[in-house]
Formats: sequence, structure tokens, C-alpha cells
Amino acid sequence: MSEESIRANHTAYNMQSWSKQKGLNPVVVEKAEGIYLWDPSGKRYTDMSSQLVNMNLGHGNKAIVEAIKAQADRYCYISPSYASEPRGELAKLLVSLLPDTFGKIFFTNAGADANENAIKIARMFTGRNKVLSRYRSYHGSSFGAGNLTGEPRRYALEPGIPGFIHFFDPYVYREPVNFASDKEAVDYYIHKLREQVLYENPPTIAAIVLETVTGSNGVLIPPEGYIQGVRKICDEFGIMMICDEVMMGFGRTGKMFAFEHWGVKPDLISFAKGVTCGYIQLGGVAVSSKIAAYFDDRLLSCGLTYSGHPLACAAGIAGVTYLIENKLLDNVQERGAELKQILNGFKEQYKVVGDVRAIGLMSAVELVRDKKTKEPVVSYGQDPEGTMKKINGELVKRGFMTYTHENMILVAPPLIITKDQLAEELSKLGEALAVVDSWY
Ligand SMILES: Cc1ncc(COP(=O)(O)O)c(C=O)c1O
Repeated sequence: MSEESIRANHTAYNMQSWSKQKGLNPVVVEKAEGIYLWDPSGKRYTDMSSQLVNMNLGHGNKAIVEAIKAQADRYCYISPSYASEPRGELAKLLVSLLPDTFGKIFFTNAGADANENAIKIARMFTGRNKVLSRYRSYHGSSFGAGNLTGEPRRYALEPGIPGFIHFFDPYVYREPVNFASDKEAVDYYIHKLREQVLYENPPTIAAIVLETVTGSNGVLIPPEGYIQGVRKICDEFGIMMICDEVMMGFGRTGKMFAFEHWGVKPDLISFAKGVTCGYIQLGGVAVSSKIAAYFDDRLLSCGLTYSGHPLACAAGIAGVTYLIENKLLDNVQERGAELKQILNGFKEQYKVVGDVRAIGLMSAVELVRDKKTKEPVVSYGQDPEGTMKKINGELVKRGFMTYTHENMILVAPPLIITKDQLAEELSKLGEALAVVDSWY
């Protein structure tokens, strides 16, 4: 098919996520390999967001493709009530990577339904109803996960579900006060959260759900002690701690799971994206042995036709094994340190860069009109002049593909990126930032 026909079908018949449908002009992808994509004219683009921060192993990973083919030759689907080798093997592999308190996995189709089921399981286990989550969070767009979500992608679901309560994030850069230390910040945030828990009547709260490191809402890396503080509140009141590791899990931050940075053991973990790197969609909820045992004699009232789809599980085993065998966490830590250093340089160099935050190969560049006032280049939830689209255009022009959120550019390349590739791409980002600098 011609490039024009492919684009015409896309715009005429397909409804594109999170977009006004008129005037779309998507890049047509002809092929993809490693960290690169090509359009039909042969122009090369670099995938600096790993698509939606899911293609952690990049495009065309042979181990995953071969595993899917081999499983497809055996059988493609079998219902969740049959024992299937890839389903059981992947569950066993994942439990082996989790803290020793973890027992079982409930597989889902993706991240949103992983969170839906995590809440459901926490509610059944505790017999409580309320769930607390943060404003600057994205947990998926289905009804329950969309209500957990705090940012504007929640608004279309309002009025919200009763008992879904939001609290503020440790967004240190945007506080009206300057904390003298991480400890001072943590004392403040944990005090406020504990206060809110008390006001909400603790025996009614089933779970606190949080992205261990906030992803698309600005890569908010919790100050040292924060995650431990949330754990302590959960322990004090018998509340389940649910870590949403959909974006950060499977190596993105330099550890297999982000909560490992702070030595805590959550009660439930939702995951998706990096488990199969998007080769086939898959998500899941990991639960502690205690929660798993609760359902030994009680009905697990959760179900999905495709829970533990054999093709997806085969992809998951191959992808996670590849990540481990190729020691990619080392690469994430090494490249991550370079990424952080270069972005910090941009913060010094460009007046439009208000803040940068990076952990492993997950980072955000926060753009402001004025470094002193921290006025963002676009207001919260609004961009009537298409400023961020224009800024993204400067990146696309240079073949640097990523996405922006509010006033931030997210940079999250595949975990296989090399030192030279990273340096080459970040120099393109620097060029684009220099152009944006000249606008203000
Ligand atoms: C932290 C987090 N949780 C949940 C989701 C929802 O996952 P999905 O789009 O696979 O439903 C996302 C998607 O970006 C996410 O980043």
C-alpha cells in the first residue's frame, strides 16, 4: 500500500487515542529495528520513548519473536482454567524476581485492567472499600483505573466512583516552599498523607495505590524515605500498598522493579508494558503469599478471557529472560548516569529548562518560561496554542521521536541503547532546546 493510503485509512476509519481527530498527520512506519523506525521514504527516526515506554528491548527482538512463533505452532490460545506451560512458567519466573513475600500472579491484558484487578483483590482481601491514589498519576483509562488516575485524563469519567480519593504527590520542584532536605520533604508529605488517611476513616481504606516513580506525569522520583513512609502508614492501618509498576517495572529505572530502590515490599504490584515489551499485550497483578492464601478457600472473583494468554506469556518469558541474560540492568544504570549528566548540563545551558529528573533510562525535561517564577510553558491541562506540539515538531524534524506531557518532554529510550547512540540523540535534543530557548 502507498504511504498516502495507509495514512488515509488511519485518519478516516481509526479513532486515535487522546487526540482531536481532525487534522492528524501520523508518521507511517515501514519497518522498525532496535531503537530505530523508518518511514516509507527511508527517513530514519529514533524511538526515544520506547513507544509508550513499553518497548524496553527495542524493536525486532529475535528471542521474543521466535518464542511467539514457537508457541503459535503449538497452540495459540487456551482458556484460563487449563494448565498451560507458558502461563505457569511465566508466573513462576515473575514470582522468583519479586520479594520473598510474594506468592502468585493474576494475569490481565494490560496495565489498566491490572490496576482494576489489584483494587478488586485488595477490596476482597480487606473487606474495605476506599482507595487512595495521587493527583499526578496515570493508572489507565478504563473506568476503575481512570478513576484512580488523578490527572486530566480522569475528567471524562467524572463524576467519579465514590470512595476513590486523591492525595498530593511529592512534587518537590513545584512546592511553594523550599525543603532543606529530603527528610524535611518526606516528613511533610508523609504527615499530610497520614492526616488524610485519618480524615478518611482508616478502617474503610482498602488500598493506597501509587506509581512507585510517577511516569508520564513528570518522572517524579520520590525523595528518600517517602516510599518507606507510605509503607509505614499502610502497616499502621492495615491498608494494602499497591505499587503500579506498569511503566517502571522490568528494568526501566535500573532495578527490576522501582520499589527495590527503597527496600520496601508492597502487598500488590501491577505490571504490564515491559513484561512483553509490547510484542503481545500482557499485564498482571502480583500478590503477596498472604493474599494468595486468602483465596484458597474463597472465590477469586476476577476473570478475563485472555488471562495468561499463551502467546503473550511465551513473549514474556523470552523478554524477561533476555533482559536478565544480557545484563541489561547494568546498561540502564550506566546509560542512565550519562543521560542524567547530559540533561543536567541542559538545565545549566538553556533558560527554558526549569528542571530535569532522571532515574535509570526514565527522564523528564520540564520546560518553563522563566526559571525564577517556574511559570510552565503551558498551563496545567491546557495548551490552546499547541506550544508542546510545536516543540515536539522540533524534535521530530531531527528524527527524535518521543512524547510530551503538559510542559515536559519525556526521554525514555529502549534499554538496549548504546553510549554512542544516546550521545547522538541527546545532541539532537540539545539542538531543539536551543531553538525553544530562542522563543522566550
Ligand atoms: C503507570 C501506568 N499505569 C497504568 C497504565 C495503563 O496501562 P495500559 O495502557 O496498558 O492499560 C499506564 C499506561 O501508560 C501507566 O503508565
